Order: sequence, then structure tokens, then C-alpha cells
Amino acid sequence: MSKILVTGGTGYIGSHTVVELFNAGYTPVIVDNLSNSNIQILDQIEKIIGIKPEFHEFDLCDESKTKAFILNNPDISGIIHFAASKAVGESVADPLKYYYNNFFSLINLLNGYRETPINFVFSSSCTVYGEPDTLPVTEFAPVKKATSPYGNTKQIAEEILQETASAYGNYNIIALRYFNPVGAHATALLGELPNGVPQNLLPFITQTAIGKREKLTVFGNDYDTPDGSCIRDYIHVVDLAKAHVAAIKLLEKGNPNGNYDVFNIGTGQGNSVIEAITAFEKASGQKLNYEFGPRRDGDVIKVYGDVTKSAKELNWKAELGIDEMMASSWKWEKYLKENPIG
Ligand code: UD1
Repeated sequence: MSKILVTGGTGYIGSHTVVELFNAGYTPVIVDNLSNSNIQILDQIEKIIGIKPEFHEFDLCDESKTKAFILNNPDISGIIHFAASKAVGESVADPLKYYYNNFFSLINLLNGYRETPINFVFSSSCTVYGEPDTLPVTEFAPVKKATSPYGNTKQIAEEILQETASAYGNYNIIALRYFNPVGAHATALLGELPNGVPQNLLPFITQTAIGKREKLTVFGNDYDTPDGSCIRDYIHVVDLAKAHVAAIKLLEKGNPNGNYDVFNIGTGQGNSVIEAITAFEKASGQKLNYEFGPRRDGDVIKVYGDVTKSAKELNWKAELGIDEMMASSWKWEKYLKENPIG
């Protein structure tokens, strides 16, 4: 079966995608520099799929190593490119790290395939829409000026990919714009492993419930939303992983829309922070210690995706709801307590 390179394959979304690729009959090959992930994730993947995936540890910003890898692996037919720095706050403090890591790796990978047809799936984000003018936001909505260097790397990367696809003809590219990935594998053997104090909502909720953090602060309760807290489109990481398999399949079949395309990957449903907390309390049977605090700089008030295009053209739609997202996140946090990783 086709070999698919998964860059960042030991990370949160990458590791779940490795499992789903394998389940769909593909042979995933991982490249990761382990800068924000743990080598033990390979063992966790093996516990689920029964084999340890092929793994190469190097930094894709290293041009000669990337070139050598590509030359030595001519049977790779597709790439899913996750490897990137992704912390919004850190990107504001250290923008050059973000521009360096996220662009050099992308350009080295693309350059390695100047002579060969390649299918390429890119990890993009709904952050490209900023605060959308209409909801649910469709793929045709304008891209708004990024509010962080991290967001800017996603916008510019989409432009690089679009121009590359149109200039050379041998690249078949899909950018997936994820909404808010949460949840964990049903076995609780894989999930999100935040580095230090979590910045994202779900790991902060589960770490508070397990006693690692004292309390969650809800950033703002005076927004123009039904309960005053922000609204997001939370998407289960296993559904998100399956969207990547669907994208590879569409590229293999030939995308009638041409050699560059973008898709929203969400559920199409918006949930507020308070609704997320309530769903967590219901799924876990735990009362969560939280308080309201000031708004967080740069937060979008409301965003959720129109997923009609993904359903029709990618033949993919989310199957798991907020209850499963919360239950699996909680099961993972409890697993980590008994079986620490890293
Ligand atoms: C953030 C990034 C987004 C990135 C995504 C990656 C910003 C502005 N956006 O999305 O670009 O693609 O992470 O996962 O940083 N919240 C709390 N308390 C907390 C943490 C979060 O109330 O301790 C709220 C936030 O205000 C927000 C919601 O929870 O309303 C989700 O926040 P988060 O998980 O950080 O994701 P985003 O901000 O949507």
C-alpha cells in the first residue's frame, strides 16, 4: 500500500493520523525532531496498531538531511505535513523562531519534490479567517490579517502552496483548515501532551480536574454571545485524523477542483466555553473549579465552520460530538496520571 510521510507524526494530531492511515491500509512513515513530542508515542502507537511505524529523527529545517531522506525514500507517494511550531503566545515573543521553523521545513520539503509528482496535505487553521463577518464561515470567506506570527505562518504557507501548485504542475495540494482540535484516542493510549502550562482550553480543563492546576480561568463573560463566553467549533482529533486520510484519497483519485484546494475541518457546531465546561462536567462526573477572568488579548469572539464543502467534495464529516470529545480527553488525563509519558 502507498507510503505516506507524516511529518510531526509523534505530535498530537500527527500520532492520531498515523493510526488512521494505518487503519485505512496505508504505510505511514514518520519524520519528527521530537522538539515538542516524546519518543514514547511510538510505543503508544504500536499498542494500538500492533506495529511500530518507521521513524526518522531529524529536523526538516536541515536541507541536506531532508534532501537525503527524500532521495532514499522514492516510494513515498504522499506527505501530510504537521511539523511546525504552534504556540500563539510564544510566536509573539519569538517570531523569528516561527518564521524559521515553519517556512524552512515547508520549503525544504517542497523543494525535495521539484522533479516528482507528490500529493501534499497541509495543516492549516481557521485562524486565517480572523473574526469572520458571517457564520458559519465558508472557505470563500476572506483571509484576514493575522493577529500573531503563528497565524501569519499559516496564511503565508497557504500562499506558498497555492503558488507552488500553480507554477510547477507536479504538486497536488490540499490545505485543511482545522477549527479547535480536542479529545483523545478511544483507547486512551494517545492524546494531547501539552508542554508546560497548557494554553488551550481542553488540556487546562482536564489538568484542573485531575488536580494539576488549581482552577481554570474563563477568559471573558461579557462577549456578545448567549452566555457571554467565546464560541468555537471543537472537533474530535480522531475525526480530524480521518479528514487527512480523506484528503490523501481525494488527491490519489485526482481532485476535480485542481491541484490546490482548501477545506474547513470542523463539526459546523459552535459551543461556548461554558458549554464546553458543562459538557466536561457531565462526561467526567467531576465538578470543575473555575472562575471568570478578563478577556484574553487576540481572542476571536465566535467562529465555527461551514463544512458543506468537506462533506460533498472530501467525502468527510465529523462523527463524534462534544460528549465524546470530553469523555475521551478525561480518560486520557486519567491514563497519563497512572502512566506518565516524558
Ligand atoms: C488557539 C489559537 C489558534 C490556534 C489554536 C491551536 C489564539 C487566539 N488562537 O485557538 O490560532 O490555531 O489555538 O489549538 O490563541 N479559554 C479559556 N481559558 C483558558 C484557555 C482558553 O477561557 O485557560 C477559552 C479561550 O478564550 C477561547 C476558548 O477557550 O474562547 C478556546 O481557546 P484555545 O483552546 O486557546 O483555542 P483558540 O484560542 O480558539
